[in-house]
Formats: sequence, structure tokens, C-alpha cells
Amino acid sequence: MMRKKKGYVCDVCGYDAPAWFGKCPVCDTWDSAKEISSIDVPEQIAQGVFVPLKDIDTADKERMSTGFPELDRALGGGIVGGSSILFSGEPGVGKSTCVLQIASHVASMRKNVLYVTGEESARQIKLRADRLGLKNSGHIHISASSNIDYLRSADLTDYGLIVLDSLQTVRLSDVASLPGSVTQVRESANLVISRSKRNEIPSLLIGHITKEGLIAGPKLIEHLADTVLSFEDTGHGLRFIRTLKNRFGPADEIAVFEMHSDGLAEVSDISGVMVNEFVQAPGNVITAVVEGSRPFLVEIQSLVSRPLYSSPRRVTSGVSIDRMLLVAGVLTKRANIPLDTLDIYVNVAGGLSLDDTGIDLAVAASLISSFLNKAMPQKACVFGEIALDGSIRRVSHMSRRFDRAESSGFPGTISPEGKTIVRDISELLKIFGGAAGEGR
Ligand SMILES: Nc1ncnc2c1ncn2[C@@H]1O[C@H](COP(=O)(O)OP(=O)(O)O)[C@@H](O)[C@H]1O
Ligand SMILES: [Mg+2]
Repeated sequence: MMRKKKGYVCDVCGYDAPAWFGKCPVCDTWDSAKEISSIDVPEQIAQGVFVPLKDIDTADKERMSTGFPELDRALGGGIVGGSSILFSGEPGVGKSTCVLQIASHVASMRKNVLYVTGEESARQIKLRADRLGLKNSGHIHISASSNIDYLRSADLTDYGLIVLDSLQTVRLSDVASLPGSVTQVRESANLVISRSKRNEIPSLLIGHITKEGLIAGPKLIEHLADTVLSFEDTGHGLRFIRTLKNRFGPADEIAVFEMHSDGLAEVSDISGVMVNEFVQAPGNVITAVVEGSRPFLVEIQSLVSRPLYSSPRRVTSGVSIDRMLLVAGVLTKRANIPLDTLDIYVNVAGGLSLDDTGIDLAVAASLISSFLNKAMPQKACVFGEIALDGSIRRVSHMSRRFDRAESSGFPGTISPEGKTIVRDISELLKIFGGAAGEGR
């Protein structure tokens, strides 16, 4: 026996309430309440099931490989049975490609994959599979219909994975709004996730995000899914898959890929890609950052010049402007470098965005290097956090950064520990052999 649970949800912002409302109390939209009646609650669940804690099975759930070792690692060891994974990203970033490659890997283990698409025709998916050179396509079953009512009752016993591409393009006929609306997105996600749990089959749900970074249908699926992966195009042809949330493993891990004509390929050494064009010129400095548990090297570039206008300009790309102003302020005050009167441009090569405070020291070295018009005197990797008093502090994962610097060809390090030790800004200045006031 099933029971229907009723409720209302705002079709604009996703606010939900047990009773109908004329005007949404959260986003103030009139007439946005839509009835949701499609959550099937089995009678047993409706009455409550109480289990003594000691009787709960904690044996590790079996994990399934995605076929990408780095992605498996980012997920905490592969896909957990019955879990649902939301793949979010902007259109064109490579979500469909990635899930099709995963589907093909699962199929290679003789497990059937149900690939539900409301976005493309079956032919388009076949063409992509052919372009990617995927085999085992006999085990991948395509359902190219935007209506997914059939998922309520479909027999999924023979399936090892469900793919839904995408949440914004499918619909249920008893939900009275358009595909992509909050209610449709939420109900479709609910249905796939509940089928996943009930049948112990993992599911991959693709969700487009808007330019503002919201998963359309105001983030409301994020809390439903067990794992949320964000797919980002970082420039340099690199794609990052980041675990934003993970019930079964670490969050904030990353896996790095490159997009080729035959699909996504994992990149195990990003540093190679990020620093292979490094030139020892004024303003260029290599630093080591840690994303998730993964260390890699990137290049910071600065240009310090006489102001073009009466008030100096400060422009950053990839580093927060506040962080750069803090470093520039410390250099002005503690090292007598008159950055306050100069134009400052700071850039992270490769279009990456960094929020690791360990880059402070590299930003400082880069600014000094540009100011003095002197390249870094040694081929070194620079990292450490700068405090307002001009002292330099340790940062997380020091040893991982040292190891990465060594293995990526920048064995000399300048940091508050290690080979060349700098404990404050004046010691950093000495490395350039220069005193303030020499440059422009
Ligand atoms: N014929 C092709 N040759 C090479 N790369 C392609 C080809 N078609 C698509 N791509 C790559 O795949 C990307 C689109 O991937 P896709 O998986 O469809 O993205 P999403 O599902 O996130 O919208 C494109 O941005 C492009 O880089
Ligand atoms: Mg797609």
C-alpha cells in the first residue's frame, strides 16, 4: 500500500509548506504555490519503522568504480550502492560526456545502465558514444523521453546504475508546471533518488547551473542528493570535478580532467600543465596550493606600475582583491615599498581561482619582483601566510607542498620552514638583494 503525501512548494524559490499559500512568504511571489502530491510513501514507512541502533548493519557498502581512479578517490573510493550523486555544471562543461563514460565503464562490468535523457535524442547519445569510442553499448539502455512517469513503476532489478540527463529537462505528468520549474526539478529528483534508495541502485543526476552559480531550482536538490559534484572549466583546457558535499567521503576533494575529442581524460599531474610555461621574469612566482588533499603548483604574476590615473588601480584575477590589498598593505607599511601609490595587477596563470592563504607569500614575492623589476633570483616555489605584523606563518599541508614542489621541478622552496626560511617580510626582501625605493 502506498499513501500520497501532499504539500505545496513555491515554483519560484522552492519554499515548501504543508498548506496552500497565495503569496510566497519567502520570495513574495503571488500564485506560485504548486501542489506536490507525488511522493509515494510506503505504508510501512508512513507508520514508522523503529530499529534498535545495535541492530543496524554497518558493513561497508559496496562501492562501484567510475572507471576514473581520480574521481573514485574524490568520491571516497567510488560510488556507494543506492546513493545519488548530483553532477552540477554549466552547459558545455562536459557532464553528459563524463556520465556516458562512467556508464560505459559500468556496462563493461556486465551491469545494465538506464540512461534517461530529456535533453538529447537516442541518436545523439549513440553518436557521442561512437565518437568517444565506447564499447559495451548493449548494456546501456536509453530512454529518450522527457516524461519520466514510467520510473515510478519500472522494473529496475537488472540495473546497476541510473543516469538522468538532466533534471531540468524531464517532467512528471501530474506535476502541473513546466520542465525546469522548481516543482518539476524537485519531484523528478525525488523520484529518481527514492528509486535509487529503494532498489539499492546508484544514480547520477545531471543539473545545469546558471551563470550565477545556482543549480537551477534554487539549490533545492543539493540537500536531497548524497553527494554533490561540481564540474568546473578552469581554463587551460582543464576541468575540475569538485565534491561540494559527500555523505560517504571527504568533501572539497578534486579530480582533474582534460577534454579531448575522445572524451575526458584524467590528469594526475596538474602542476605540469600549470607551470610548464613558466619564465623567470619580473613579477612571475611559483607557489604551491592544496585543493582538497591535492597539492599542485601554479604561477602568480604581478605588474606594478606608475598609476595611469590620479587614483591607483588594483585589479586581480584568480586571487581575491582583499587578500591582495592585505599583502600590498603589509609591504607598504612593513617593507617601505610604496605600493599605495602604484597601479597593481595580480593574475593567476591558467585562469584558476585560488583561496588558499598559503599564496600570500608568493603574491608578496611577485609584487616585490615586479616593483624592483628583478626576476626571482632562484627557481623556487614560494608559500606561507602573511600576518598583518609582517610575520610569515605556516600553512596547512606543508609537507605535501614541499613534496609537490620537489616532484614538479621547483625543489628550492621559500617559506617559513624548509630550505630557504623567511620569517617576515624583510627577510623576503633580502632574497631579492634589494632595498625598497629602488624600483618604480
Ligand atoms: N565533436 C567533438 N569533438 C571534440 N570535442 C567535442 C565534440 N563535441 C563536443 N565536444 C566537447 O564536449 C563539450 C560538451 O560536452 P557535454 O558533455 O555535451 O557537456 P554538458 O553535458 O555539460 O553540456 C564541448 O564543450 C566540447 O568541448
Ligand atoms: Mg549535456
